[in-house]
Formats: sequence, structure tokens, C-alpha cells
Amino acid sequence: MSIRFDGKVAIVTGAGNGLGRSHALELAARGAKVVINDLGGARDGVGASSEAADSVVAEIQAAGGEAFAHGANVAIFSEVEDMVAQTVAKWGQVDILINNAGILRDKSFSKMSIDDFKLVMDVHVMGAVNCSKAVWEIMKEQKYGRIVMTTSSSGLYGNFGQSNYGAAKMAVVGLMNTLAIEGAKYNVHVNALAPTAATRMTEDLMPAEVLAMLVPEAVTAGALTLCHDNAPSRFILCAGGGGYAKSSIFETDGIYLSPEQQNPEAVVANWEGICDTANQAELETGFKQSEKFLLKAQAYLQANQ
Ligand code: NAI
Repeated sequence: MSIRFDGKVAIVTGAGNGLGRSHALELAARGAKVVINDLGGARDGVGASSEAADSVVAEIQAAGGEAFAHGANVAIFSEVEDMVAQTVAKWGQVDILINNAGILRDKSFSKMSIDDFKLVMDVHVMGAVNCSKAVWEIMKEQKYGRIVMTTSSSGLYGNFGQSNYGAAKMAVVGLMNTLAIEGAKYNVHVNALAPTAATRMTEDLMPAEVLAMLVPEAVTAGALTLCHDNAPSRFILCAGGGGYAKSSIFETDGIYLSPEQQNPEAVVANWEGICDTANQAELETGFKQSEKFLLKAQAYLQANQ
């Protein structure tokens, strides 16, 4: 089965470099019309330039594809709204949004300024919120939408020096969870991609021979599976160097403590039961957790009437 995007309109944020560029080129090669969004700043978010985005547009056009560049800063809603308005004016629809734009401001939490924390949150979290919000009603109305959040193993599991980035990358998973629930009945699927690739973001973090194996195209193969017609929804796909894996949040079945045992000593004494993974599950919504606990409490009350 060949995966095609003919007739689809895609917006890829941060598409001037690295992973976004690779996603955009492959979407265009497979038939999509693509908006190449990029602010064009440095890795830490300083500066702006249209050069990178323009060169990706030229590459797509030279290969016979359709694309235009937009320099919206994803952290600024009015600029994102303008990008979406231009897209609709030109192509009439928005089918795919890949929230990929990102910056780094690594420092240990002790040394990190609140400004560095906020800027990283703004670009990754508010960037994804702004872009998703600007296309949301369009996707709902056309009863078709595919949104990809770009998370990171740093958010899912933590990394030294990345409290800002990790917090932001987990926040977009939270955004995905609820948007996937709210989008379900409108055929709007929302997924997350946790990449590892050699880009300017990682060029000084790993040795050259490792970087050579981490080609962006391997991650793009994963990204495209999250935004085609038969894409799953609410899936966290990890991709890097040709490896692909699913990441999930599981909750153990847990235990019930009677009212007289609802104290820290009893919680500690029952730690093994709390951690027992035998019947662990992925929960569909937050309410499912409350429901599970209430069922346990009800069962106890019935047994002790
Ligand atoms: P990159 O630095 O090569 O590309 C990021 C692009 O986003 C740049 O072209 C930059 O100009 C653009 N950008 C930054 N701030 C922007 C803003 N406010 N508005 C619009 N565009 C903006 O980095 P890379 O590696 O391609 O990263 C892409 C995404 O993948 C990011 O979200 C990053 O956090 C994520 N990621 C990358 C990993 C890797 O191994 N390369 C690992 C985990 C996550």
C-alpha cells in the first residue's frame, strides 16, 4: 500500500531545517501542498530570517511540488492566524498540521532563568496550541484533520538540563490526549511523535558516527504514518535511526483501602499492591480513573453492609 497525500494541504511548522524540512519534502513528494512555516532564528530562538523556509519551498517547487513559505512565529497567535488565513485563501483547506517548530535553552534547573523556561514553553506548548487552535474549526467543519505534536524522550522520561524542554514536551502530550478525545467524532486524529535525529538541535550532543545513523528521513517515515488517511489517534510514536516504538502511560489497577485505613502508614504498607502491574491499563480518559476507584469503594461497601 503506497501512502499518498494527493489533494491534501499540510502546514509544517519549523520546516526550514532538520526534521520539519524532511517532513515537508516527503509530504510534497507524496502529493501534498505544503506550507513551509519557519521563523528562521537560531537554535536558541534568537533572530529571524526567511532564508531557510524559502530554500525548502524552492526545493519542493524544483521537484514539481507546490509550497509556499510563511514566517509566522508559532508563539504569536495573530501571526499563526495569518498563516492559516493565507493557506485557506490559496488552497481552500487545511488537512494536516505538523507541530514541529522548537528551540532549546538547556541549563540545570539551578542555573535556568525563568525567562529561558518561559520562552521554551511558549514556542513548544503555546506554539502547538496556537497552530492547533487556528486550524481546529476548519478541520472539524471539513470532518477531516490530522495533527501531529512533536514530543521528546526528554519530556516522556526526563534529561539532565532540560527541565524547560521536558516540561514543554510532556505538555504537548497532554494537549494531544484531550484534542484526540474532542476531535474523534469529527475525524480529527491527533498523535505525537518522539524523534531522535541528527539536526542542528543535536549536532553537538552525539559523536559524528552516531549522528550519521540518525537521519531525519527515518523519523519522517514515522511522522507520515501519524498524519495519513488511516493514521491512528492518540498514539505516541518514537522514531530514530530506523527504530520505531510505541510509548504509553499505564496505570496499575491499584488497591482499595477502607476508610479506617486511609492514612499514610497503610498506603506505605500496601505499596506492593499499588505497584502490582498485573492488571495495569491505559485509561481512555481521566474520568476512567475516578470510575475505577469508585467501583472499588462500592465493592467494599457492598461486601461490608
Ligand atoms: P531544528 O533546530 O533543526 O529545527 C527547528 C526549526 O524550528 C528551525 O528551523 C527553527 O527556525 C524553527 N523554529 C523555532 N522557533 C520557531 C518559532 N517560534 N516559530 C516558527 N519556527 C520556529 O531542530 P529539529 O531537531 O529539526 O527539531 C524539530 C522538532 O523535533 C522540535 O520540536 C524538537 O524539539 C523536536 N525534537 C528533536 C529531536 C532531535 O533528535 N532532533 C529530539 C526530540 C525532539
